[in-house]
Amino acid sequence: MQYRIGKGIYCGILWGTLLICVTAILAAVWLLFLPHTCNQPQASVDAESESESEATGFLAVLQGETAQLSIAGDWHSTDETIAAVDDTGLVTGIRQGTCQLRSEDACLQVAVRLLETCVGCTYVDGILIVNKSYGLPEDYDPGLQPIAETAFEELSVDAAAEGLDIYIGSSYRSYAYQVEIYNNYSALYGWEQADTFSARLGHSEHQTGLTIDCNTINDEFGETPEAAWLAQHCAEYGFIIRFPEGKENITGYQYEPWHIRYVGKETAKEIQKYNLTLEEYLGVTSEYDTSWQG
Ligand code: DAL
Ligand code: ZN
Repeated sequence: MQYRIGKGIYCGILWGTLLICVTAILAAVWLLFLPHTCNQPQASVDAESESESEATGFLAVLQGETAQLSIAGDWHSTDETIAAVDDTGLVTGIRQGTCQLRSEDACLQVAVRLLETCVGCTYVDGILIVNKSYGLPEDYDPGLQPIAETAFEELSVDAAAEGLDIYIGSSYRSYAYQVEIYNNYSALYGWEQADTFSARLGHSEHQTGLTIDCNTINDEFGETPEAAWLAQHCAEYGFIIRFPEGKENITGYQYEPWHIRYVGKETAKEIQKYNLTLEEYLGVTSEYDTSWQG
């Protein structure tokens, strides 16, 4: 009896050990071949990262218009029904939407924008654009718009919590008031000089009611901690520094560290991320048609 029990235990241990060994071998084989047997999910991960490549730059072009890429390369569009690119780097905006242009070593986020006019105002993808190319009618007089005012109040309160004083120096300006301002500057400095820092009638963003000049309007403001905070944080409240340093040839105006424009948080953050002006973000120019006739 003792012998029979001993033999049973012995067999059990033997079979148990054999089972463990076989399981271990099968597990090892499964692990060894896992990457190959997982080809399908692997491929879909690749496809996902391919479709969501981090763009190294940004390009906006109006629907029906073209833009020239400055970087040469073998570009291709991820969606040719939105934007097409040829061998010379000429990009054509086909229809409103977003896609990417890729070359071997670059990837541009592309937005094809729709420009519309409504009662004398110009909107690009729904964003009101006012600059040297696009003006406002004389009777457009919304006052400081509540959405901008509320956002600014939040900004100002948060800046104050950090010991900074950011307040409204100037905000909404009527068409008539801008006429006065521009004429004064024009008389003082001549229209060519005035055009570099003051908008002609109907062309001031202050008339949109979405723009605020912070604190004192002079170059010293740019050296203050308030200006540094504003540049760093205004996008969190939906504002952009409208006329940045180094982009004067694009905006058409001198650097104005105090002048902020409300565009909404998402837009402001994208503009900040790619270090753009509103013109670059929307794919528009800022140029007067004619010299000032007085
Ligand atoms: N200073 C800005 C350009 C304006 O006059 O609206
Ligand atoms: Zn201003």
